[in-house]
Amino acid sequence: MPTLAQIQEPIRHELGQYDDFLVRSFRSDSRYASAIMEYIFSIRGKQLRPLIALLAASLNGTVGERSYEAAMFVEMIHTASLVHDDVVDEADVRRGHPAVHSLWGAHTAVLVGDYLFAKSYSLCMDRGATDIVSLVTRAIGLVCEGELDQTEQAEKLTMTREAYFSIIYKKTATLISAAAAAGALSVGAPAEAIARMTAYGDNLGMAFQIKDDLLDYMPSADTGKRACNDLRERKITLPLLYVLERASKTERTELLARLRDIREEPANADYLYNAVVSGGGLEHAGHVMREYSDRARKALRGAPDCPARAALTDLCSFITDRDK
Ligand code: IPE
Ligand code: IPE
Ligand code: MG
Ligand code: MG
Ligand code: MG
Repeated sequence: MPTLAQIQEPIRHELGQYDDFLVRSFRSDSRYASAIMEYIFSIRGKQLRPLIALLAASLNGTVGERSYEAAMFVEMIHTASLVHDDVVDEADVRRGHPAVHSLWGAHTAVLVGDYLFAKSYSLCMDRGATDIVSLVTRAIGLVCEGELDQTEQAEKLTMTREAYFSIIYKKTATLISAAAAAGALSVGAPAEAIARMTAYGDNLGMAFQIKDDLLDYMPSADTGKRACNDLRERKITLPLLYVLERASKTERTELLARLRDIREEPANADYLYNAVVSGGGLEHAGHVMREYSDRARKALRGAPDCPARAALTDLCSFITDRDK
């Protein structure tokens, strides 16, 4: 598996410039806001979305200030979505550390998410990056819609393949896709190149969320997130969906009852986990994930042959093989 450092290599210098840009952009006079921002910036995660934006920029032209604006906007929107996501998912751990709401409470976490959105949005607007703003805010709307659809499904305890793919497209693939397209847009790439980056990001984003759903079945110590949190939130993701689709009527009723009562009966998580593992749910999801990742790789075919393209290709394997 290619390492993240290898994938970053073609734009190592630009990533350094980007970090300086980010620190400069997020200064605040509020002591409370600064303390929380410092905490968030000290645990930045894999930083895949800014990496995708800057590699897409490098693939299609010369990385510059506009590319840093694009990278910053997608990274900050992603960060805001995680701060809110942990409130919604009642998840206490993020990136191996306490989630923002675990330390400062849900009230502050909601405001911090909004703050990140407003700051990054106004920064881009002040700099006249309206095309990037328009592209990324469209994705933000879809992320929220995906989260709402997912909440509805979890409440009703229903899930179909069509609904699952629609939800993961909206909540995750759209922002990864926007990162790739915004990077290309930032260097004035033609419509054809932007369409190529969108196709790449859409498919990579689908593979990315399926992998995230698979990682939910892995031990917490490895992923930096609580294990089986999706089941505890009564979320039916692809591994369980596959098992439900193949179960007899009686088995299906039993599995759904276990999921419905999971809050009152925590041991139901073990029952469902075992059913998913023995029913081949993890293998199936892995297979579908690799199909999306292959499609992402193929989408790059018409792009210029250069180190940035090789890095974006390597990212497809990194995303499917990662363990966090
Ligand atoms: C987690 O994204 C949220 C999803 C969309 C699945 P990442 O796995 O990219 O999170 P960080 O930024 O590296 O922590
Ligand atoms: C993440 O979905 C999608 C977002 C919009 C944040 P998850 O709820 O699966 O993300 P993790 O697993 O908590 O990172
Ligand atoms: Mg969530
Ligand atoms: Mg979550
Ligand atoms: Mg998840």
